[in-house]
Amino acid sequence: MNNYILAIETSCDETAMAIIDSQQQILAHVLVSQINEFESLGGVVPEMASRFHEQEIFKVYQEVLKKAKKTITQIDAIAVTYGPGLIGSLLVGINFANSLSLIYGIKLVPVNHMQAHIYSLKLENNFTFPLLSLIISGGHTELVLSTKSLEFTLLGSTLDDAIGESYDKIARLLDLGYPGGPLIEQLAKLGKPGLMLPLAKHDQSLDFSFSGLKSATYNLVNQAKMKNVELSPEDVAYAFEKSIIKTILYKLRLATSRNKYQSLGIVGGVSANQTIIRAITENFDDVIVPQIEYATDNAAMIAIIGLELFNQNIFTKKFLNAKPNLIVEDKWNN
Ligand code: KG4
Ligand code: ZN
Repeated sequence: MNNYILAIETSCDETAMAIIDSQQQILAHVLVSQINEFESLGGVVPEMASRFHEQEIFKVYQEVLKKAKKTITQIDAIAVTYGPGLIGSLLVGINFANSLSLIYGIKLVPVNHMQAHIYSLKLENNFTFPLLSLIISGGHTELVLSTKSLEFTLLGSTLDDAIGESYDKIARLLDLGYPGGPLIEQLAKLGKPGLMLPLAKHDQSLDFSFSGLKSATYNLVNQAKMKNVELSPEDVAYAFEKSIIKTILYKLRLATSRNKYQSLGIVGGVSANQTIIRAITENFDDVIVPQIEYATDNAAMIAIIGLELFNQNIFTKKFLNAKPNLIVEDKWNN
């Protein structure tokens, strides 16, 4: 029998829904991004983000059902992100799912957004365990080991800023707009080597820290301004990205030398960065990445892990609540 799962993602600034069937086919995938709303503001304003989700969610719901040629009564379960993320944003998706569950008697599957990023790999080219994952997103930078399905051990994480967040902050410093990652990536391609920026946390731990690199970049740009020295933004972007890449390669070398793996997954919004991915694939074997459209937040990744949870009978007993500080290791606990 074919089952259909409706997946909902609203943890940050994307209102997204997808429908998947038991054969792992994504029947429809709809995403409305708030990027344009926040471009001039340089980042997400949580209060605005939740209002935007409220405005969009019903339209997204109607569209995803229409595209998949399904009605809500044909849906067997609703998979929804319950954390981590912005509480107001999470609650819009969760309350929508709770209401559908109450009205139509549909089971709810609770999805951890970080685990979903890792499972985004399955949408393209399945992984083999042990799977070592590097999550590089706007909110997180984490090394995670999975030895079997739905098992996640955190090996290291950032002590301060996440990689995507650092990209966004440096983009703001250079007056580029939001989100900063793709803009810095393009700018860095035009930059020349020469400027020196420090490497972030080159020690024996698997934790990361990017605040030192951020401060050094701020100092470089601000001091040049004060001294009226012309500094090319392309060269700053190049030096910044170079330092980020060196750090990623260094930490991946440590992690892969300490942990056996069959697949090395690079996931999260920053994995859309082709310069970073090229550097990783040149240095490591068995690297897998999600398709670019599934690197940044989306509902297809919620759907694919939702199906796995559904197959393992992981459902909420009653209504779901948001857990904004959920960590990747956290398992659903009724
Ligand atoms: O995974 P994601 O969509 O949201 C979170 O769960 O955080 O990641 C968004 C982050 C943003 O910080 C954005 O600047 C970054 O991913 N990003 C990139 C690129 N595309 C998106 N960073 C570097 N290079 C890119 N091409
Ligand atoms: Zn994300």
